[in-house]
Amino acid sequence: MADISTRKADHLDLAIQGDVGFRHKTTLFECVTLVHDALPELELDAIDTSSVVLGKKLSAPILIAGMTGGTDRAERINRELASIAEERGYAFGLGSQRAILKNPAALASYTVRDVAPNALLLGNLGVVQAAKMSTNEVAALTAQVGADALCVHLNPAMELVQNEGDRDFRGGLDTLERLVRELGVPVVAKETGSGLSGSVAERLKARAIRHVDVSGAGGTSWVAVEMHRAEGVKRGVGETFRDWGIPTAASVALVARHGFDTVFATGGISTGLDIARAIAIGATVGGIARASLQALEAGGRDGALAFFERVEAELRAAMLLVGARNLAALRKAPRVVRGELSDWLAQL
Ligand SMILES: Cc1cc2nc3c(=O)[nH]c(=O)nc-3n(C[C@H](O)[C@H](O)[C@H](O)COP(=O)(O)O)c2cc1C
Repeated sequence: MADISTRKADHLDLAIQGDVGFRHKTTLFECVTLVHDALPELELDAIDTSSVVLGKKLSAPILIAGMTGGTDRAERINRELASIAEERGYAFGLGSQRAILKNPAALASYTVRDVAPNALLLGNLGVVQAAKMSTNEVAALTAQVGADALCVHLNPAMELVQNEGDRDFRGGLDTLERLVRELGVPVVAKETGSGLSGSVAERLKARAIRHVDVSGAGGTSWVAVEMHRAEGVKRGVGETFRDWGIPTAASVALVARHGFDTVFATGGISTGLDIARAIAIGATVGGIARASLQALEAGGRDGALAFFERVEAELRAAMLLVGARNLAALRKAPRVVRGELSDWLAQL
């Protein structure tokens, strides 16, 4: 059985270079057309992309979504990306903190507060692990890294394909409800690339969960990542289920009907136009995981910064071209939803 650090190293290599996208499924953001305004009466430099999310001010509605921890390489990645989040005013997510439970020395690879003292920092733990822990133990993990909120990730599809994956998913809602009630920092219910449905949103809302990260389908397929690492029957299951999940745009629009305080739209986002589309259909913030990592690996910190500058410039361009002075106006911007995305919204 692979240990956590071997698995995390495999994940990084596969996410950077591997064939881990969806085969046919897309995010469906291409089905959202924002309507051009030829007379925007706005000045580009006066466009305001700031907002307050989970009590912290973001200069732009961007989350560098949780990816890694537990190895020296993860430490470098976390610290470089977190320092960019600090510099640009984004939110930053740590990868699953499970590795600290197995090896307390792994804490160093999640320590970013010295380089990101003000950034909105999200801790991360799987719901299956959290179910087996007391609230005090979870609170200690969150406090150790100085997180402002905890993402509790839901990932049944990838676990089923992972050789060493979890098989018992009972008690997830009870665990989330307990943590919301007792943890003392906000809890974000987060998928990992298969999306949240309207029905899941309804069940979360009924248990007082107020923040979600839809992490929908169309970007990194975690079933594909685990398929590459799996053998035998599980590899076959991975091949069959590689495209499983709710496209990110469909998930955002379905979840937005339920009135969450915060909707992070992660899953296949790599442009500012897609962040603008996500916000127009109900998201609060756009999350970027694999594309952030790839930009960092390809071009170092400067390359990652250039990538994010482009994303911000695209978001500002989209806002100007729909006549939206700020994110509240972008949320009300006229848009046309067509094709498969309108099927999802009509049938659910
Ligand atoms: C290398 C890598 C490691 C990841 N590890 C975690 C994790 O530990 N916890 C988690 O909640 N999500 C994890 N994710 C999932 C991302 O946060 C995100 O939900 C998913 O990859 C979809 O976004 P993307 O298409 O932009 O990659 C990871 C993603 C990548 C690329």
